[in-house]
Amino acid sequence: MPANLNWLWNFGAILTVVLMVMLATGLFLAIHYTPSAADAFASVEAIDRQVPSGWLLRSIHMTGASLFMAALYIHLFRGLYYGSYKQPRELLWITGLVLLCMVMLTAFAGYVLPWGQMSYWGADVVGKAVGAVPGIGGWLEHFLQGGDAPGDVSLHRLFILHFFMAFAVLGVVVVHVAVLHVAGSGNPKGIEPPAATVPFHPYYSAKDAAGLVLFITVFAVLVFFFPAIVAEPENYRPANPMHTPADIEPEWYFLPFYGILQSVPSKFGGLVVSVGAIGLLFLAPWLDTSPVRSARYRPVYRLGIVGLVVAFVTLGLVGRHHAEGIWMIVGRIATLVYYGHFLLVMPWSTRRERTLPAGVEGTP
Ligand code: HEM
Repeated sequence: MPANLNWLWNFGAILTVVLMVMLATGLFLAIHYTPSAADAFASVEAIDRQVPSGWLLRSIHMTGASLFMAALYIHLFRGLYYGSYKQPRELLWITGLVLLCMVMLTAFAGYVLPWGQMSYWGADVVGKAVGAVPGIGGWLEHFLQGGDAPGDVSLHRLFILHFFMAFAVLGVVVVHVAVLHVAGSGNPKGIEPPAATVPFHPYYSAKDAAGLVLFITVFAVLVFFFPAIVAEPENYRPANPMHTPADIEPEWYFLPFYGILQSVPSKFGGLVVSVGAIGLLFLAPWLDTSPVRSARYRPVYRLGIVGLVVAFVTLGLVGRHHAEGIWMIVGRIATLVYYGHFLLVMPWSTRRERTLPAGVEGTP
């Protein structure tokens, strides 16, 4: 292993452990859950109130989903900052992005299962977004929902999808880590082969364990002291197809994409641009072929990454504020900055950027 890995290299191990926790708690939740529109809400209430330690299982699973997504975004932006997507790790990057898409789908399906107001109307918004595809949209929406609106059939399918995807994610993680072992880990300097190496054990086994202890401490504080911190109050009302909530809002980790969706005037256009925001990540290894990997030595690229992170967070705020008034303009600018990093900064800096010589960095 490179001797100079920093704490950002802890998140792969953290993700693996949180995935196990999600699978274990999910399995026990599934034992008590009823996947039907008539009984789903009551079965989740029963888990919270009647099943021994059911509230704890549910709190771990819900908080875990949020922490998993937070760790996933840190892991991804680490890769962008240090150029981990570059040759010879293109396949590793692609398997990571496949995981991102699978995890997002799993999280969406999971959020529908309690069949509260936000579950129902969230599924409705996604159904309508799919319905905006020209030509086949209506058919696709009907096919995916199993009806004209979310209902019993949709819930049943989403339950199976949620259950199945969780294990499929585990399978792809095995592939991800196997591919990692072919190329080996990168390092913050991006200089390969690294100047100094150390064995994984005891150096990184100890460092991963220390990172996990810290992470689990934060996890435990949230679960035991703020068990409903990520819960949306509106989702504690049973789904009511006759009553649209005033604010339909996805979980925080989808907000940046929701912000893009709303900033674009046409429904289909919004869908294309927000799905495109993930699509661009797949192209990163070919948009940026600079031989210098790490943003430490690439001042312009580094600025692009800072812009990308600011744009991502801003888009999250836009999603929260429903892209109205000034938020609409802010959303469009942030979308341009996001796209600009991939379509302008990456190709430009590949050809023209004056990179710094090794040793003069002074940034993370
Ligand atoms: C279920 C989700 C995931 C799990 C469990 C996982 C697991 C891991 C593990 C254990 C490592 C080695 C330790 C480390 O470098 O942190 C790793 C490295 C890596 N992962 Fe992931 N990962 C996941 C998702 C992703 C995603 C979404 C991406 C990016 C699109 C990604 C890209 C990478 C890259 C590029 C590396 C190598 C980085 C380097 O050494 O320079 N992974 N992953």
